[in-house]
Amino acid sequence: MKVTGKFITFEGIDGAGKSTHIAYVAERLRQALSPRGIDVITSREPGGTPLGETLREVLLQQKMHLETEALLMFAVRREHIAQVIAPALERGDWVISDRFTDASFAYQGGGRHLSLDKLNALEQWVHPDLQPDLTLLFDVPLAVARARLDATRELDKFEQEKVDFFADTRNEYLRRAKEFPQRFRIIDSTQSIAAIRNEIDGIIDALLASASGQNPTNQVKTSIA
Ligand code: TYD
Repeated sequence: MKVTGKFITFEGIDGAGKSTHIAYVAERLRQALSPRGIDVITSREPGGTPLGETLREVLLQQKMHLETEALLMFAVRREHIAQVIAPALERGDWVISDRFTDASFAYQGGGRHLSLDKLNALEQWVHPDLQPDLTLLFDVPLAVARARLDATRELDKFEQEKVDFFADTRNEYLRRAKEFPQRFRIIDSTQSIAAIRNEIDGIIDALLASASGQNPTNQVKTSIA
């Protein structure tokens, strides 16, 4: 099956501020794409489907073996791809996901030290041919993220982790950004919301231009089971 839509993911450690910007990007894309008859779908992981949302509760609240956690994250993802992401991209719609596989590498791999070989194997199993077209990585120093979390709400299982966990998670995100520079954009999330929006505008405009140019080299040429 041919994929003609675009897939955008938002990433960052807890408290990095990504959620603030998702609605903004979705709205901006809708304004640009709806005249072309293209829908913009927002979703999240873990979650994105009724099954995924049920498993999200379990994943965010219950302690479990590290490999169980990784396997469940990818099980949720398999369902998310089958039910939501693949059908949308095949229709030519755009999908924005609040977290995707980079989060498994960062949290289960970086934070919890699950081997990258195992994570690579799961990725190969679950989505061998699908990668985001664009990943916005919201990056902040740990102290800033911590202060934001403490100020906002009751903390879930991941948010209660120690500072070392977040240092390792953040480092893995940054390592992946270096490994895949063509799709990652690192946003300095200590900036004001206005400054971040300004930066995001430039990134999104470039993606829209590449999509409307109908340049075949910019089109995702993948098939998804
Ligand atoms: P998050 O996206 O931060 O949602 P909220 O802003 O509502 O708290 O919460 C999801 C948590 O799940 C986050 O702590 C990261 C974690 N997570 C993983 O550990 N591995 C994964 O593969 C995914 C998708 C998320």
